[in-house]
Amino acid sequence: MLIVIENLLPPEEVVQFRQQLDQAEWEAGSKTAGEVARFVKTNQQLPDEGELAVALGNHILRKLGNHPQFVSAALPKTIYPPKFNRYAEGGHYGIHVDSAVMQLPGQRDSLRTDLSATVFLSNPEDYEGGELVIEGKFGAQAVKLNAGDLVLYPSSSLHQVLPVTEGARVCSFFWIQSLVRDDAHRELLYDLDQSIQAIRVECGSQHSEVSRLTGIYHNLLRQWVEC
Ligand code: NI
Repeated sequence: MLIVIENLLPPEEVVQFRQQLDQAEWEAGSKTAGEVARFVKTNQQLPDEGELAVALGNHILRKLGNHPQFVSAALPKTIYPPKFNRYAEGGHYGIHVDSAVMQLPGQRDSLRTDLSATVFLSNPEDYEGGELVIEGKFGAQAVKLNAGDLVLYPSSSLHQVLPVTEGARVCSFFWIQSLVRDDAHRELLYDLDQSIQAIRVECGSQHSEVSRLTGIYHNLLRQWVEC
């Protein structure tokens, strides 16, 4: 399932991000691609260990932690420190699947990539092309969101970024190891939680069926969670 979270960053924060990112020194993305991906990746990335990437990444992580829809959809156990990329002048990333395991920077631990996320930091009218095309059960979907919006998709999906033929596409991207490994289980929990939240608004959180459904949610989560 592909989940869009609108306005993770409000417009004024996107402007602040872009002011800093547009002055940053970018490096060739092929430096960090795997053996296969190296031949299909022609974009630019911000050095991960740089002060700017760390500061902006931490800001995104704080936003994610306080975002109920993100937490419900991803059930995050570990989030990879957000990275930043820029596509311009025909830059693209051909079809690939993200690596299953990522070494966490500066740590011994690694992360299993259950979910991949992209936060758009350019408005769609500011560049031509650059769609993130994600292959799913129901075919390929082209994603091009407003600046500040996030898309979340299973890391097992084949995906690509189409060439940016005009302007620049700036994004943040990262991976999540979820407390619930199985995409189907995680989707059921997300759908159930969204329904409970809607019923809670309709009937009030004191309603006995809201309590029963919340209990079912937690009992399902207990079946599937990996801590
Ligand atoms: Ni990818």
